[in-house]
Order: sequence, then structure tokens, then C-alpha cells
Amino acid sequence: MPYRPMPELATPRAPQRGLLHRQGNADMYAWLFMRVSGVLLVVLIFGHLFVNLVSGRGIQAIDFAFVAGKWANPLWQLWDLIMLWLAMAHGTNGVRTIINDYAERPGARLGFKIVLYGSAALVVILGTLVIFTFNPCPPSSPADLLPSFCNG
Ligand code: HEM
Repeated sequence: MPYRPMPELATPRAPQRGLLHRQGNADMYAWLFMRVSGVLLVVLIFGHLFVNLVSGRGIQAIDFAFVAGKWANPLWQLWDLIMLWLAMAHGTNGVRTIINDYAERPGARLGFKIVLYGSAALVVILGTLVIFTFNPCPPSSPADLLPSFCNG
């Protein structure tokens, strides 16, 4: 086995300060948040999968009317809202950690984080708008595609 010297590690530097850089206990809370949100996501995601795919008529039943019927109920609006926000906060925080681990140049870190936070904000805003502004009975749509309560 050829001798391979240990790789040189950069001398540890003082904590970075500045734009987008957390200080104090923030990273400990971020670590804790990943565990707590992970547990909640298991309940929310498996509850979502069970109700959509197992308890009813399975995947064949999922269409526009199915979604419209679910979102007519404030419980499912709230369920989907919390699932969206938690998954996005969890996923965004996870990718933030990956960027901190792998992107070494400060400019690259900043660039990746601007793209990350920008796209996360877009998905959260659009997703939230869809949940609350969704129209289950769009005018001049074929009645057989709409939930039954639209025809009454
Ligand atoms: C089923 C529910 C989920 C559980 C139990 C869970 C749990 C976890 C835990 C404990 C971590 C931290 C790992 C570490 O620090 O080494 C983590 C990291 C991560 N999670 Fe999740 N997660 C779930 C769902 C999701 C979802 C839905 C997304 C995407 C939206 C996601 C994206 C990520 C990412 C990007 C990381 C960072 C990976 C890394 O540091 O290497 N997770 N997850």
C-alpha cells in the first residue's frame, strides 16, 4: 500500500460574520429543527399518502374533483399548508447545510443561497396562494370533471 500523507486541513478561522451568516446558537436550533420537523413530516406525509392512496379507491380516484373535494375541507387546507411550509423549511435548511459544507468560495455560497432562498420563497408563496384561492367550480368546465357539489 503506497504511503499517502494526511490531507492538509485549512487552519480553522474565526467564525465568519456578515450577510446570510448565522451566529450564536442558531445552528444548534437549525439542527434541532431538522429532527423535530422530520418527525412531524413523517406523520403529515404518511397521513397524506394513506388518505389519498390507501383509504379510498386508490390512485384511480385522484383527479381534479378529488383535490377540489379535499380542499373544500379546512382541515385538509391546513394539513397541506403545514406540510408545504414544513417540507420547504426542512428541505431549504438541509440544502443550506449542504451549501455550507461544499461551497467554499464566499461568492459561490452567496450565489447558491440567493437561488435557494429565492426559489423556496416562490414555491411557498405560490403553493399557499393555490391552497387558499383554488376555485373548485371553474365556470364553463365539463360537469363530469368537477366535484358533485358544483352541480347543485
Ligand atoms: C419523511 C420525513 C422526513 C424525515 C424523517 C427527515 C429527516 C431528516 C433529518 C433527521 C435530517 C438531518 C440529517 C443530518 O443532519 O445529517 C434531514 C436532512 C435533510 N432533509 Fe429530510 N426528512 C424528511 C423529509 C424531507 C423532505 C420532504 C425533504 C425535501 C423537501 C427533505 C430534505 C432534506 C435535505 C435536503 C436534508 C439535508 C441532507 C444533508 O444534510 O445531507 N427531507 N432530514
